[in-house]
Amino acid sequence: MKQIYTDRQTYRPTLFAFTVNQSISQRSLKYVERITNNILFSENSPLAFKFVQHFSENGLHFLYYTSWKTLGNMTSSLVEFGGMSRWANRKALVTGCSSGIGAVIAKDLVRYGVIVIGCARNVEKIDVLIKECEEAGYKGKLIPYKCDVGKSSEVEAMFEWLEKQHGGVDICVNNAGAGSMTPLLDLKGDEMSEILNINVVGLVLCSNLAVKSMLARNIDDGHIINISSMLGHIIIGIMNFYTATKHAVTALTKGLRMELAAKGSRIKVTQISPGRVETNFHPSIFGDAEKGRKFYESVESLTPRDVSDAVLHAISAPDNCQIYDIMLQPTNLGSPAAYATILKP
Ligand SMILES: NC(=O)c1ccc[n+]([C@@H]2O[C@H](COP(=O)([O-])OP(=O)(O)OC[C@H]3O[C@@H](n4cnc5c(N)ncnc54)[C@H](OP(=O)(O)O)[C@@H]3O)[C@@H](O)[C@H]2O)c1
Repeated sequence: MKQIYTDRQTYRPTLFAFTVNQSISQRSLKYVERITNNILFSENSPLAFKFVQHFSENGLHFLYYTSWKTLGNMTSSLVEFGGMSRWANRKALVTGCSSGIGAVIAKDLVRYGVIVIGCARNVEKIDVLIKECEEAGYKGKLIPYKCDVGKSSEVEAMFEWLEKQHGGVDICVNNAGAGSMTPLLDLKGDEMSEILNINVVGLVLCSNLAVKSMLARNIDDGHIINISSMLGHIIIGIMNFYTATKHAVTALTKGLRMELAAKGSRIKVTQISPGRVETNFHPSIFGDAEKGRKFYESVESLTPRDVSDAVLHAISAPDNCQIYDIMLQPTNLGSPAAYATILKP
């Protein structure tokens, strides 16, 4: 048995999970029941999940066991972040919301009653998320917007629309990102420009326009979240151009925070820096879905849930506490050199 989450407000355990690589013996279940005196579910079915949500929302502790992967990929978080209540009915932009990390962040925000504008190029994929939110009875709303954040004109048009239709945003999650396995020595200008425009220029422009919108409305508790990477902190010798853009995100996060502080603003800026996460990212940079799948099978990875929980933790922190950076790595990472070996094309 392994405790995986605690209630951030009181540090009392709220959720336990088991791995079910081997089936769990009745004896161990009884043992957990005895030591925790909690409610126990044994099935990873939508119905069981609804019960879990219900009990959780009513402040009861519960137990849940499933495989780590299933738990990580579940469409709804099982963790309650007490400080999230202040965001209900506020507006958030999540870029790159059509898959992976952005999709889970968007749904989590909707679960807490936030009105989320989710943008991506493949905007039709967001319709599936909207349906999931509606079926789960989430309090907030997810609104799709088609935008290529690598194109400044499209970002500017999106913020004009945001202002007119929704009166601006109070949270901006810069999540859209692109990577490449091409060595620096072989990179062409077009590929570099595309990655730079999405990971850096788009991120800065979205932050600028979100902050302008907040300042114009005297919003002093807004939050900019940059989904960076561990490659914003370390260099492993592959994906070097992507690494440079994520190092740029680290510099830009710190720079924006300083500019806002110099203005006397209390708008917070947080960077979340995950190591590898199981999403469409690696299949996409390998240009080979099967290779991507095998890669994730061969190494332990974070899940989008891990990253979204870090976002919720940052934005639910109390007013006096600004979280600068959360670094997350899979527990069994191995050395960066081992990671580089695995990733060799
Ligand atoms: N997966 C990892 O191992 C990992 C590790 C560290 C950091 N990250 C970072 O996490 C973020 C999310 O990636 P992910 O892992 O969730 O990958 P993903 O599943 O491939 O999702 C990427 C998202 O970004 C969107 N996107 C890409 N280019 C865009 C553009 N030009 N305009 C608008 N949206 C765009 C994609 O939507 P459309 O294609 O529909 O536009 C998609 O929704 C990225 O910033 C990535 O660098 C990922």
